[in-house]
Amino acid sequence: MRFLLIGGAGYVGSHCGRHLIARGHQVEVLDDLSTGHRAAAQGPLHHLDVRDTDAVTRVLQRGFDGVMHFAALALVGESSTQPLRYWDVNVGGTLSLLLAMRRAGCERLVFSSSAAVYGDAGDAPITESSALRPVNPYGRTKLAAEQLIEDAGAEGLRAFRLRYFNAAGAAPDGSLGEAHRHETHLIPLALRAAADGGALRVFGADYPTPDGSCVRDYVHVDDLARAHALALEALAAGHRGGALNLGTGAGASVLEVLRVAEAVSGAPIARRSEARREGDPPSLVASPARAALELGWSARYTLEDAVRHAWAWHSAPRFP
Ligand code: UFG
Repeated sequence: MRFLLIGGAGYVGSHCGRHLIARGHQVEVLDDLSTGHRAAAQGPLHHLDVRDTDAVTRVLQRGFDGVMHFAALALVGESSTQPLRYWDVNVGGTLSLLLAMRRAGCERLVFSSSAAVYGDAGDAPITESSALRPVNPYGRTKLAAEQLIEDAGAEGLRAFRLRYFNAAGAAPDGSLGEAHRHETHLIPLALRAAADGGALRVFGADYPTPDGSCVRDYVHVDDLARAHALALEALAAGHRGGALNLGTGAGASVLEVLRVAEAVSGAPIARRSEARREGDPPSLVASPARAALELGWSARYTLEDAVRHAWAWHSAPRFP
């Protein structure tokens, strides 16, 4: 089958492209390269902004069996200081894509959503029917985009909304990895600190968690890629879609992640205790049961695998 990956030059999108090709599918990428990398795109690149509805329609009219939509601004902290930009790109971009898909008669979508739609959900594993109470503008834009997609079901759209927990790691063969120009994520920053001897800032030591630091469910990017491929294949086979959590079901605190990063890199990581970062919920851990039921998906890689692959990529990245 032939798929168009919106935002396919970014971190999760590029790994999904690689995985789809390995499964025998054809991939084209539409990306404005504002955060992605040309070298990461796994197929012909349409260098466009998803908000350009007419141009996206023309690309879709070439004929695709489905669309994956990754293009979004995705930094929790930044979303609190630039909320309108987040609404413009994340919600405006999704509306533009849905209009283009309707015009082009394309009815299958896999959407990159986020655990951020749940907000502060307590420390129990989060199911898809847990309350949706996002605590930052990023999460609110993802929830609004999900609602747009649900409403578009009345006009024939079939879609999976995949709620990622914390994407982590790199391609096991070292061909792709996380390469944000402005890095804010814990694992790459911890590995950078291990490599250059700098200090890692730990945001918050007084959360209601076992060691006081935030707990997250780190899911390997290759596991995410496999879930996307299964979701598109299920839509093509007639599945109606829905919302699915993608996580491992196990949480790790910031301090635990640092211990894994030290073990993998073999270097001590200096840490500096800082105030809480705005918009961070204390704990986000998935119940991945529904994804297992609907797609036969569960994570195969561990946090240690993700950190090991990220360390190999960090040591020899292929694009700037
Ligand atoms: N953290 C630090 N120091 C750092 C960086 C991060 O202590 O230098 C902490 C954060 O405060 C947080 C945890 O490490 O508690 C993870 O932070 P990340 O920035 O790596 O990831 P987030 O949990 O903020 O966000 C990520 C994605 C979002 C997604 C969310 C869902 O970026 O898109 O996971 O869990 F919504």
